Amino acid sequence: MRILFVDDEPNVLQGLRRSLHDMRRQWHMKFAQSGEEALKILAESPYDVIVSDMRMPGMDGAQLLEKVMERYPKTVRIVLSGHSDQDMILKSVGPSHQYLAKPCDVKILKSAIERACALQNMLANETLKLLVSQIKSLPSFPALYFELIEEMKKPNCSMDKVGKIINKDISMSAKILQLVNSAYFGLPQKVASPAQAAKLIGLDAIRGLVLSTHVFSRFNHLKLRIFSIDKLWSHSVATGAFAKEICKLESQPQNIVDEAFISGLLHDVGSVVLAANLPEKYEEALELARREKLCAYDAEYSVFSPSHAELGAYLLGLWGLPNPVVEPVFFHHTPKQHLVQQFNALTAVYAANVIEASIHQDDWHGSPLVIDTDYLSSIGMGARFAEWEKACLKMARKAEN
Ligand SMILES: [Fe+2]
Ligand SMILES: [Fe+2]
Repeated sequence: MRILFVDDEPNVLQGLRRSLHDMRRQWHMKFAQSGEEALKILAESPYDVIVSDMRMPGMDGAQLLEKVMERYPKTVRIVLSGHSDQDMILKSVGPSHQYLAKPCDVKILKSAIERACALQNMLANETLKLLVSQIKSLPSFPALYFELIEEMKKPNCSMDKVGKIINKDISMSAKILQLVNSAYFGLPQKVASPAQAAKLIGLDAIRGLVLSTHVFSRFNHLKLRIFSIDKLWSHSVATGAFAKEICKLESQPQNIVDEAFISGLLHDVGSVVLAANLPEKYEEALELARREKLCAYDAEYSVFSPSHAELGAYLLGLWGLPNPVVEPVFFHHTPKQHLVQQFNALTAVYAANVIEASIHQDDWHGSPLVIDTDYLSSIGMGARFAEWEKACLKMARKAEN
């Protein structure tokens, strides 16, 4: 793997060189002191990853990454930058795949680079790239997301601070409260503040809620002929809640429960982006699904090539969500293709989506989704589906009352 590091401070480059010394056999690393030098190096030979500082004299990191994005779209772009540059990073978040704060632990840096590349490989499908290149407005991070992540990273992270950060965005905080007070969460008491919500449902779940609320609200002005963003949002919330419930029924550890919930919330995010950016083609796909009685996933495949599932996973990867959250999104219509064939967050999201779709039968699914009993049997869960379905239907009935 070829990696190019860019920073105007020789000390920083020296530090990187030293701390990544043991990677020199696996990685070909090059170090540039300015954006101009980096572009020269890139023009000579391609690099898989570029890790750049933001604040640099002459060409700054945002300008550099923008050029890299234009000229070498296959190169993974990572920002490694100081906290004080946050405003600048927010502006450039479009052209960067991942943001890391300085000083960055070497282990985190290594895993961020490796993860970005693994995901890039999984998503290195040429047709998917072609699709992404046609999409003009990719939703960027909500401004308070970084703040939230920073707070959550602190060993003494306080729920009250998390609550305060969310409170800065009044409409988001209202939406989150509405959600956590719904029957889908089944909380014993009424939740009055985001801080209390964070305490009750956990930080990871709150992070997923912030992200999904943001994406959906960015596109809620959309008026499509054949499906409503509001309905897709309700479907997503219910799928997240069902996936969580299924994990609990299978006595999964808390991290899997949270991953399934976040993945479920975001599993159809690709549909929103397709509908917002390529509405005519998207409607064409849904009409094809209706006419030929296909599931939307298959119809999208024939119209766009990759579907909303792969596109959604790609976006979550860009937003730096962890692989355990990205993978269920990628495979939520094709769980048999996943390398790990055992019960995991993917199984829960897959089943939750099918169950939710059977309740509302909304248009964007095309013809009704049918559970793949072979898949469930092959992972030893064949007999469990009925119980999952029962629990989810009960939850849905409560939520509708
Ligand atoms: Fe889907
Ligand atoms: Fe779905």
